[in-house]
Amino acid sequence: MSWWKEAVFYHIYPKSFYDSNGDGIGDIGGIIQKLDYLNGTPDSLGIDAIWLSPVYPSPMVDGGYDVANYIDIDPMFGTLDTFSLLIKEAHKRDIKIIMDLVINHTSDKHPWFIESSSSRDNPKSDWYIWKNPEDQKPPNKWLSAFGGSAWKFNEDRNQYYLHSFAKEMPDLNWRNPEVKEEIFKSIRFWLDLGVDGFRLDVVNYYVKDIEFRNNPSYFYKSLRAYDCQVHIYDRNRPETHEILKDFRKLLDSYTDRVSIGEVFQPPPGSSKLPAAFYGEKSDELHLNFNFAFTYCKWNPIQFMEAIVAWEKSLKSSDWPTYFLSNHDFKRHISRYGNGNNAIPRAKIAALMLLTLKGTPFLYYGEELGMLSERIPYKKIQDPAGKKYWPIFPGRDISRLPMCWENGLNAGFSTVEPWLPINQEYHKTNVKTEAKSRKSLLTFYKKLIAIRKKYDSLRIGSFEPIDLDSERIMAYLRKIDKKEQMLILLNFSDKKDKFILENRPIPLRNAQVIFSTHKREDSGINIAIIHLEPYEGTIVKLE
Ligand code: GLC
Ligand code: CA
Repeated sequence: MSWWKEAVFYHIYPKSFYDSNGDGIGDIGGIIQKLDYLNGTPDSLGIDAIWLSPVYPSPMVDGGYDVANYIDIDPMFGTLDTFSLLIKEAHKRDIKIIMDLVINHTSDKHPWFIESSSSRDNPKSDWYIWKNPEDQKPPNKWLSAFGGSAWKFNEDRNQYYLHSFAKEMPDLNWRNPEVKEEIFKSIRFWLDLGVDGFRLDVVNYYVKDIEFRNNPSYFYKSLRAYDCQVHIYDRNRPETHEILKDFRKLLDSYTDRVSIGEVFQPPPGSSKLPAAFYGEKSDELHLNFNFAFTYCKWNPIQFMEAIVAWEKSLKSSDWPTYFLSNHDFKRHISRYGNGNNAIPRAKIAALMLLTLKGTPFLYYGEELGMLSERIPYKKIQDPAGKKYWPIFPGRDISRLPMCWENGLNAGFSTVEPWLPINQEYHKTNVKTEAKSRKSLLTFYKKLIAIRKKYDSLRIGSFEPIDLDSERIMAYLRKIDKKEQMLILLNFSDKKDKFILENRPIPLRNAQVIFSTHKREDSGINIAIIHLEPYEGTIVKLE
């Protein structure tokens, strides 16, 4: 079994994890200092791999997603030596390190772009996507995800270049074989250094329509005009798959490396699109993110539909992935909860995420219940945030510094951090929660340990039991007859009961192995199981 099928991934936004040198910004040295929190001691959280958002040299227009050099580390984060030390120290604790590969675009400060934009006949003139004006206007109606036209005029070339995101992030021309060769060289650089794989940023954007046709329009209630186009020409082009097949061959020439595609898609999130990035012969990416969960309301039917659709879209050789939060969305605890129900709902969500069939990705701070909090306009760093303020508060709300303790700057830094500290840090922090048996952190630790202990919870099959309950989600995880788990999640704030009559599980002895409410390691009669409000219980069927 490949390690990444059984692993729990933990996503770190490096500027916000831990500041080791007192400049208010998280860094690689800080991650090294906090590795024991993540794994390697009996008290650790127990995660198996870190996905690190970009740490390459960058002008930080988009938090490092604007890369100015693919084979170095930004001084803000450390050096190549610090990075190598991170790999070494992480591996000592059985933690793998996955980098973010941002190769749809570079920074406009990348030497390639500086050269490409200098004239029409330099050696890199075709490394980006350049087009002549049409009647003094942009060549077509493609839009930037961060607002406005996707085209920016450049006076030196008297031409427009394409930027799918900020204007400081020009899109590379993946139809040019030199670009591919140079990027593949950088990928080898990191693989040789020992990284365990990559998360591929906006992997479905790489190749653009060769004729630059306009996208069809689409009626969708959104504040972004961008969401009212069907993006069939500026992304999701079939040629992308050829690149990914070669990328996979490169990855497979090393042992045990993994790739995860960010297959971004508008709501409601189709599972067919991410499924395509595993490759028709499972010869593209190992894993792909499906965004369907980020669009689900707090309703088990919606989650179940997303899960079943995802399972159906994948071939038997493909492996699902699940996540609830990342650096681009409002954290799920803030999407689903308010006030008293936030933590109970977060526990139900965690139980689901960590007992589904598929690789779970956690986002730093979700194990604490850190909230997404609005910050004042003048503190906003996210380019997409400034643009749509105040209707859309930006993505900084989910990138606030990790809360380590109830002390100065929540123990994140000795100086004022680059983004404000969460208001509830005095109770929502690592040190306080580690001491409490009832905290969300303790819950995540126990849950990850249970997942490690029982093979069925990691690699067993998934069988939904109830597809249309508005309140209870129920499913089985099974390894043949050897080990069978029944998972019951009460999404509602009412008591309820789960009745096994007429359901496809034979009645037998059972034991509660993990529960928000019931005594663990106690026998249970499974003919009728009474559930408290927001109860989640795992029952082992003997
Ligand atoms: C991805 C990243 C996001 C970034 C964008 C451009 O969607 O997750 O943070 O802004 O790509 O690189
Ligand atoms: Ca720092």
